Order: sequence, then C-alpha cells, then structure tokens
Amino acid sequence: MRSVLIIDDDPLIRKTLSGHLAKQGFDVQVAEEGEEGVRKFQECNPDLVILDVRLPDVDGLEVLRRIKDIRQKSYVLMMTAYDDMKTTVEAIKLGAFEYLVKPLNFIDLDLTVNKTFQVRALEEKVSYLVEERQKEYTIDNIIGRSPQMREVFKLIGSVANTRTNVLIQGESGTGKELVAKAIHYNSPYRDEPFIVINCSAISDTLLESELFGHAKGAFTDAVAETKGKFEIAGKGTLFLDEIGDVSPNLQSKLLRVIETRDFMKVGGEKVLKTEARIIAATNHDLKALIETGKFREDLYYRLKVVEIFLPPLRERKEDIPELVAYLLEKINRELRRTVRKVPSEVMGLLKEMPWRGNVRELENALTRAVILAKGDIVLKENLPLDSGERKIYSGELVSLREVERNYIQHVLDAVQGSKTRASQILGISRPTLDKKIREFKLQVNLPSA
Ligand SMILES: Nc1ncnc2c1ncn2[C@@H]1O[C@H](COP(=O)(O)OP(=O)(O)OP(=O)(O)O)[C@@H](O)[C@H]1O
Ligand SMILES: [Mg+2]
Repeated sequence: MRSVLIIDDDPLIRKTLSGHLAKQGFDVQVAEEGEEGVRKFQECNPDLVILDVRLPDVDGLEVLRRIKDIRQKSYVLMMTAYDDMKTTVEAIKLGAFEYLVKPLNFIDLDLTVNKTFQVRALEEKVSYLVEERQKEYTIDNIIGRSPQMREVFKLIGSVANTRTNVLIQGESGTGKELVAKAIHYNSPYRDEPFIVINCSAISDTLLESELFGHAKGAFTDAVAETKGKFEIAGKGTLFLDEIGDVSPNLQSKLLRVIETRDFMKVGGEKVLKTEARIIAATNHDLKALIETGKFREDLYYRLKVVEIFLPPLRERKEDIPELVAYLLEKINRELRRTVRKVPSEVMGLLKEMPWRGNVRELENALTRAVILAKGDIVLKENLPLDSGERKIYSGELVSLREVERNYIQHVLDAVQGSKTRASQILGISRPTLDKKIREFKLQVNLPSA
C-alpha cells in the first residue's frame, strides 16, 4: 500500500487531507510539528511527504532539509501560501518535488500526487535499469583464469580509475568491446555515456560528421546542426571500434583532437573541447599497418598509452569449460531453456575446436546447440564440427575462387598472421593480399607476441 505522511499544524487541513487520501487507498500518517514529522518520517519511511512550510517549532524548510538528509531520494510536496514565492523557490532548490498552494483544492492535490507517483515509478525503473547495466559489465562477466586473461584483468583494474587512452587489440570475437565496457563501467565516470562508433562501417565523410558533428549547411543534406560523438560522450568514454580502418585524412584529424582536445564541427567555426576518454580497438595488426604507411605512427602512440592484448580463444583453452558454463547460462536465460549438461566427450571437442571467431563463435555454436537440443544435453551432432577445418582440397569439386580463398586462409594461418610472410609465400604484393583479405573476408590472426 502506498503511504503518505502529512506534516501540518492546522488540525482542519490534517483532517481533510488525511480523510481524502485515505479514501483513495493511501496509508496516511500525520504529524503536528516539525520534530515529530522528522521522527515519523524515519520510523515509517513513507512514499510521499506533504509538508507545510510554516510549523510552530521548526521551520518547514529545515524539516525538508532533514528529511533529505535521511533519504535523498524522498518525495516531498511543500504546502505554501500564495504570497510566499521565495520560500517555494528555496524549497524546490532543496529538493522538494513540487509545491501546493494553500488553500488546497482536491483537483490540484490529486493531480500532483499522481504525477509524483508516476515520476517515482519511472525513476525507480531507470535506476534499476542503470544498475542492471552496470552489473552486466562488471569484471565478473568476463570469464577467464588463464595467465593471459589475468593480465587483462590487471590492466582493466589499473586503467579504470584513470583517464588515459587505451588501445585494445585482438582477433574478432575475443571480447574487445566487452573489455572496453568493463573499463568504462568500473570507472568513476560510469554514469556518463559510453559511446561506440564503428570506424569501418561507414564512409569517410559520414564518419567525420559522426565524430565531430556538423554545422547547418555544411553540406547538401546538412539541414540542421548535429552533435558529434566527441561532444555526446561528455566526460564518458568514446569507443573507436575498428580504428585500423580509419582513412589517413581522418587519422590526422583524430590525432589533433587527441593532442589538443580541441575540435570543430564539419563546416563549423567554433572550437569545441572534448573531455572524453578514448578507447580504441582493432583486429588488425597496427604495427604492420604502420610499416606499410597505412596507419600513422604518432596516432598509434597516442592511442596506446595503455595497450591490452586479448588472446585468441585457442591460446587459452583452459578457459573453455568455464566459458561454456557461463555462456550456456546466458543463452538459457535468453531462450528460456535449461540445456546445461555437457558430456565430457562434447567438452573435449569444444576444447579442441579452433574457434577462429573466438568467444563469439563459441557463443553462436552453443546457441545453435541449445536451440536444437531435445532434452537438457548439448549434443555432439548439434555442434558445427567442421568449423575452422577449411580443407584446401577436400576431394569435393569446387570453384577456383573457393580454392584460392581457402588456400590464402591456410597460408595466413600457417604464418600466424604475418602478412609480409604470407605475401612472400603466395608471390603477391602486400596490397594485393590486403585486397584479397577484404574481398574474401579472411581472418588474420595477430602474430603472437
Ligand atoms: N572473456 C569473455 N567472457 C564472457 N564473454 C565473452 C568474453 N569474451 C567475449 N565474450 C562474448 O563474446 C561476444 C563477442 O565479444 P565482443 O563483441 O566484445 O568481441 P570483439 O572483440 O569486439 O569482436 P569484433 O572484433 O568482432 O567486434 C560477446 O557476446 C561477449 O559478451
Ligand atoms: Mg567489437
């Protein structure tokens, strides 16, 4: 039942108000004086307080202050007189939710009380959601006990409280975004925005206006001024995903913002400042991109103040059983299933598979197995067992293009992602190899350190 505490020295008001609210189903408490009101507030913890500004013992504003000290998130309606605007303003500044002007009428009263409860419900929901979100990105949700992952946790812990730029490197699906979020949500700026921008998904011009915003009329379609991600991120985090794909032109612009913290909107004239922390991620080998002149070395050094390498899953097989258990829980929750049993033969297979797409691929494989499961067991036949075993020549008759694709992948794997070695073996230039990697969407593992 919703509860209200009325604090007023006027017996008539106490009586009419409590009678009216009780009829509407509220549990009503009353107090005649300020001290008594504060005591009852502490004892009953009411959902709403209706408080008179003028009380015989303690000033109403002082009562409001004490109530707010006891519980910051309390909802107080102040009752004031017509000629007392100054006190009203003061009360709102002190955190009163609304004020009611005397003489009271029931229509205003009901409207204000209803509005208060609506806002209260909304605020509770929002803070619940924010908490849930923060829970989602606690370090507990990053699974791994292998030495490589322990190193990652150590780094997350040591950068979370700083504002330094972080560069996260790792193959696709190794958890780069997860780690970026963990850093943000464990930092003192966790209530500020976490803004993601994927630098490879959009064209250069679009990316520039996404990052910096644009002024009205900056280009044909710029009908209104927009805010860029640097501005929207505020004091929070700007996560530049796929940083390796940024064009040279934008690289130099990014370098300037990072160095000076200043930027201008596209077509704008005003210099704006950014306070955001930058976390960049890439699954490319940035050092190799620097060697071939595709990535600015100075930008690389600015971004990698702290560098985090996420190991491929196949290099931390000991983490697989725990990951499987964790992911199964997550999948079961989402799909409302209870597939939890993993026979040891199946676990053995899961540990041996190459997982080129890393944790994401493991998650996808398990999702499929859960969907296909008849009972509560993950079955071998529901796993994509041929995954990763790209046969160069399997006896099957396939197109030349397919053979080319598989062979280039085979060589890239064999040289552990060193594109220089791969292009030498294949007898093609580095740019041609890069083109084919893009065209065939090949997986390039980072050369192990
Ligand atoms: N260590 C981990 N523990 C639990 N879940 C993980 C872990 N690593 C990755 N995941 C999960 O795997 C999926 C892929 O992770 P994420 O998106 O962070 O990868 P990524 O490195 O950003 O990949 P890409 O390069 O393809 O963007 C997500 O669902 C994430 O929650
Ligand atoms: Mg990602």
